Amino acid sequence: MEIAKQIAYVGVQDTTLDLFENQYPLKNGVTYNSYVILGEKTAVMDSVDSRCTEPWLTNIRETLGGRTPDYFVISHLEPDHSGSIGAFLKAFPETVVVTNAKAFAMLGQFFPEADIPEEKRLAVKDGDSLDLGGKNLTFVFAPMVHWPEVMVSYEKTEKVLFSADAFGTFGIPKNIVAAAHEEADGWPDEARRYFINIVGKYGVPVQNLLKKAASLDIATVAPLHGPVLSGDLAFYAGLYDKWSRAEPETDGVLVAYSTLHGNTAKAAKYAAELIQSKGKEAAVFDLSRCDIAEATAQAFKYSKILLAAVTYDGGLMPCMEDFLQHLKIKNYSGRTAALIQNGSWGPLAAKCMRERLEAMKDVSVIDSVVTLKSTMTEANKKEIAALVEQL
Ligand code: FEO
Repeated sequence: MEIAKQIAYVGVQDTTLDLFENQYPLKNGVTYNSYVILGEKTAVMDSVDSRCTEPWLTNIRETLGGRTPDYFVISHLEPDHSGSIGAFLKAFPETVVVTNAKAFAMLGQFFPEADIPEEKRLAVKDGDSLDLGGKNLTFVFAPMVHWPEVMVSYEKTEKVLFSADAFGTFGIPKNIVAAAHEEADGWPDEARRYFINIVGKYGVPVQNLLKKAASLDIATVAPLHGPVLSGDLAFYAGLYDKWSRAEPETDGVLVAYSTLHGNTAKAAKYAAELIQSKGKEAAVFDLSRCDIAEATAQAFKYSKILLAAVTYDGGLMPCMEDFLQHLKIKNYSGRTAALIQNGSWGPLAAKCMRERLEAMKDVSVIDSVVTLKSTMTEANKKEIAALVEQL
């Protein structure tokens, strides 16, 4: 399938993987994208997870129609993309491997048995070009988007940016090539969950890549996961700009709670209903049961956060600790927080949550805290209403 003239999609769908990176639940699988450029010389762009080696090699062979690939471009060595490199090198020993010095070093770590002769290695520098005859690639280094060896490639005749993990998403799209906004309704939620949890810590490197990309005339973005993007690329770039600056998309509240017997949950839901009654968005997450990665991503979506926690063993339930740790390592910042705590004899949850939140950059926690003693009273309801007013 062509994504642009003489540029074919040869990626694969993984419908059976349950946890991406062994930690992020997949609701609708994931794709490992790879492409073949058919100039006078041919280039295969990236490999796929070892779970899908054979269908990928079949796609390449069918697309090449008997030709041997001249070049094999490697953008990123994380195993979801590098897992089939060994099999490729065996299948096509004549092909020249194209990547940068850092990636060549890492290649040896992942594939110590791979012995690529010197004449089959092309180590490129930032800004180098490769003429394929009728097609031309320029390599742009993008360190820490999301590993240090990452580079993206720009094909100038068709204005295609092979963007590595950037602009990738979980899920298997209906159409691999998304027409203008065709995927827009579904794309932001899963792309945000992918971005915040996987690449989100590296906001500054993503900003650097966006600046470099702004100087290119791009018609199509071809990432390593999810649909190929075309049409109104400003829509996707705008979201990436916000996400990489940890800037909220929506004036609303992420309400997350940890509860043992349901009483703290009632207070959290009551707060959410009050917020919604004022015409604002409030997304509610039970941290014992939800996908923490989804709660983390949604926390970045909204401008405010309300946490409700029962006191447990003189501190927080592990699920609340885990959520706050997720926020911390993904550089949650620039938000206002409100706290509800519960404690039948010695409420300490708010103190613990405040400590964790105030250690994050520019997170301000509202002074007043609502304290439940076992159950939510009418007085608590008034306090929650006042807290919501302050948010
Ligand atoms: Fe899709 Fe960082 O690998």
